Amino acid sequence: MSRLEGKFAFITGAASGIGLACAKRFSAEGATIFGADVNKPSDEDWDAVTTNAPRSIFTLLDVTDEDAVKTSTELALTSLGRIDILVNSAGVAGVGSATDLDTQEFQRVLDINLKGSFLTSKHLIPSMVEQRGGSIVNLSSVFGLMGSDNNLSYCVSKGGVLQLTTSLSVDYAWANVRSNALCPGLIETPLTEIVKQIEPLHKEFVSWHLSGRPGQPEEVASAALFLASDEASFITGQALAVDGGLSTGRRLFPAPSL
Ligand code: NAI
Repeated sequence: MSRLEGKFAFITGAASGIGLACAKRFSAEGATIFGADVNKPSDEDWDAVTTNAPRSIFTLLDVTDEDAVKTSTELALTSLGRIDILVNSAGVAGVGSATDLDTQEFQRVLDINLKGSFLTSKHLIPSMVEQRGGSIVNLSSVFGLMGSDNNLSYCVSKGGVLQLTTSLSVDYAWANVRSNALCPGLIETPLTEIVKQIEPLHKEFVSWHLSGRPGQPEEVASAALFLASDEASFITGQALAVDGGLSTGRRLFPAPSL
């Protein structure tokens, strides 16, 4: 049997990268998708979702706009009947350190990466509580677990996402609403295309991964699928690193070559 048979998933950032990979994988596992993003997915990408799950809907949404989030979540609930899963994947990168970071830029990154996940949670949890079941999967990052240079607003936002995840889990576990986070390392998506283009930066960052390679969005979607599904029914408030071992440790000696 498919792992998300009969489930309905609200996915932000569904037009690209990890959110899109979740939409494709979840629909292949039996879920109907309500995808939301500030940009449209390509026809080919969204066709892949609707081929699996014909009732799936895509809507344009800026997750920082509370009125728009309210309208979209209401649309999802009225058109699909229920939402069982929320994946908060909308996000942006943020460059800069405290002394050179424009305050408005700091706020922009926090608004999209953190406030956006709060708003979708705020407007979908009441129906999850009412139906006594729901699973929220938030995209944090390895940079929610640890710091990095020239990346302050992103690290702060992703650390906040971990605390959002924990607080939601504590507040709503009684109603069988679970909340977990994923902490990916370097994943090859449009977000990290810029890293790939700067060869020394890319080489250094890849070398942090014990796997010796970056990850693919489908590998994050697999972890999201597990946390979203009933197979994770006793797991809440957790942060799962999907990072090829980056957050585990460092080698002192070179790895054996294959
Ligand atoms: P991506 O750039 O491929 O996808 C992000 C999506 O979010 C885009 O479709 C974009 O249009 C959408 N978005 C941006 N601002 C929005 C807004 N205000 N409202 C609605 N949608 C908005 O990026 P990727 O890699 O798929 O990232 C997904 C999430 O995973 C992000 O939260 C990111 O921080 C996180 N992440 C990504 C990693 C990576 O290496 N790619 C590593 C760790 C975490």
